[in-house]
Amino acid sequence: MKKDIVSIDDLSVKDIEKIFKLADEVRADKKKFENLLSRKSLGLLFQKPSNRTRVSFEVGMTQLGGHSIYLGPDDIKLGEREAVKDVARVLSKYLDCIVARTYSHNDIVELSEFSSIPVINGLSDLMHPCQALSDVYTIRDKNPALKSIKLAYIGDGNNVLNSLIAMGSKLGLYISIATPKGYEPNREILNASQKYAGISGVRIELSNDPYKASKDADFIYTDVWTSMGKEHERKIRLKAFKGFQINADLLTKCKKDCLVMHCLPAHRQEEITDEVLDGPKAIVFEQAENRLYIQKAILIMLLGGK
Ligand code: CP
Ligand code: NVA
Repeated sequence: MKKDIVSIDDLSVKDIEKIFKLADEVRADKKKFENLLSRKSLGLLFQKPSNRTRVSFEVGMTQLGGHSIYLGPDDIKLGEREAVKDVARVLSKYLDCIVARTYSHNDIVELSEFSSIPVINGLSDLMHPCQALSDVYTIRDKNPALKSIKLAYIGDGNNVLNSLIAMGSKLGLYISIATPKGYEPNREILNASQKYAGISGVRIELSNDPYKASKDADFIYTDVWTSMGKEHERKIRLKAFKGFQINADLLTKCKKDCLVMHCLPAHRQEEITDEVLDGPKAIVFEQAENRLYIQKAILIMLLGGK
């Protein structure tokens, strides 16, 4: 049966561990599995721009011997030129796998329902599972004792945070979140994650106080205040998020050796200062690099017959 990665719920702890192990293997040896996906084709169905997700999947597919086809916003016109379910049925006849980046999460759900090939969420308004995999992989690389780590997330309760809490709670990561009022993460995902966290013996805390959330953090994470598709809210958001910036002052609350994370792209001087992003504590380019190893691992798991 085909396997999709539409949300973190599609991944068991065992799957996540398998992806991390495969990522370790392809990182150690770029040529490993170099012909595994020979003659396989990956479609990248993207309604929004992308650097990391697109390039890491395309390069990953090439390094595994396969081929990819980028279908940008003007190509398929998902749901406009053609119904989502028809796109899913047609692409299933040509491709071996689809990575989709859409505005609406439901479009990826529908793609997965009507495709006979694996569908990977390359970012929706609700989730960004591949990013969260890479983030936790990066954290684990710095400190494998995930259960002893405090991750502070400061900013918008968006797709990136939803994915981090869903993933972190499964693996036992203590996450302390500060968002402005009204910008909390998705309530359903938060409730489910809090249940998981209880089972893993960790906490997910929610507040509106960046200084409280950052206290003694081992890792501090932020993402843009205005995500793709929310540009019309930019003015309101700039006001609402005042005080939620990761800057040198906020870092004084974290542990001395705290590391700074961001999924990128960053809106410099908004959610994070240049000084911090370019400073020695930032591991944002390692996070970006790890996207490649994680995408290769995902492709091997879904298409490699292992
Ligand atoms: N972090 C991330 O997904 O970046 P892109 O939007 O450039 O793919
Ligand atoms: N939250 C951001 C993440 C970009 C990788 C967005 O959706 O635009």
